[in-house]
Amino acid sequence: SAMPGDSVDKENMITCTAPVNIAVIKYWGKRNEDLILPINSSLSVTLHQDQLKTTTTVATSRSFQEDRIWLNGKEEDISHPRLQSCLREIRRLARKRRNNAGPGFDATALSHKVHICSINNFPTAAGLASSAAGFACLVYTLARVFGVEGELSGIARQGSGSACRSMYGGFVQWIMGQQEDGKDSLAQQVEPESHWPELRILVLVASAERKPVGSTSGMQTSVQTSSLLKHRAESVVPGRMVEMTEAVRRKDFAAFAELTMKDSNQFHATCLDTYPPIFYLNNVSHRIISMVHRYNRHYGETRVAYTFDAGPNAVIFTLQQHIPEFVQMVQYFFPPEINGGQFIKGLSVDQAPLSEEL
Ligand code: DP6
Repeated sequence: SAMPGDSVDKENMITCTAPVNIAVIKYWGKRNEDLILPINSSLSVTLHQDQLKTTTTVATSRSFQEDRIWLNGKEEDISHPRLQSCLREIRRLARKRRNNAGPGFDATALSHKVHICSINNFPTAAGLASSAAGFACLVYTLARVFGVEGELSGIARQGSGSACRSMYGGFVQWIMGQQEDGKDSLAQQVEPESHWPELRILVLVASAERKPVGSTSGMQTSVQTSSLLKHRAESVVPGRMVEMTEAVRRKDFAAFAELTMKDSNQFHATCLDTYPPIFYLNNVSHRIISMVHRYNRHYGETRVAYTFDAGPNAVIFTLQQHIPEFVQMVQYFFPPEINGGQFIKGLSVDQAPLSEEL
């Protein structure tokens, strides 16, 4: 990310990667837009998947004139309020640390500007949680550069709500918190990545196009217009958080899968209840939903679950033992040769167990 002529030696440059997380109890709606405080808690699975990650390099140098950022090779506006929140909060922690640590702490980076370079290895803004991995990675890398340690999910949250959950591996909850200053709105690991090694995740890419309505503005309209969202946040999610945590703890796939599908469906129902309505699912998404229910009905047991975020692509959860058969069925119903690869553009099978990336 350095400009020609800038001197950046290796010591002043750090590269980190962060994985995407997939919510099984969805976050949708803020009670505070600036601090990014949600109207309900949420729960997600952090992927360990090389196909879905962000890689960020942060360099500092005495010769940098200003903070700058490049996303996927294109320079973006560093004055974006959410970027500024993350930079400000990390520098604030670094100053605090310097003041407490005394002369031993290397605070050189604090007097320098940063150049940030971030790359996603998957389509941006197609409902594949790019902002989650992006801000988690940014905050983690900045923290390394500035020598900051400890709880960082409260800072990642101020970049993008869902990003706070990518700060931990495995099964992670974002507790909505009660305080007005947001200090208690943090992510917390429910179970580590080693907890459920048989759990597998597939991504069925129904479209790689940009979503028409972004999460931020979509949830804003939902909060303003949907009474179903209010009901969901107050009366449905609190119980589901308890049930989901229990299902994960017991490794009860059927319970986990049913809650995951119901929560995805309710989220998309709140999108329809939003006025004007928001459509994230397309025909392929609907066919995937029907196919999963037919498959489960055939076996008289819930073997597969789907979930969809703010886009048409399906994330599938199943157990290792069902992968070959399920993949075969997907290929039968969505043959790439018939649809010219248009319906299902990619199918990725994560054979690696979930693991901590950060
Ligand atoms: C549907 O975290 O992208 O993926 O906080 O405005 O940046 P902002 O929104 P964002 O919303 C994610 C919404 C979701 C559900 C989820 O991940 O919980």
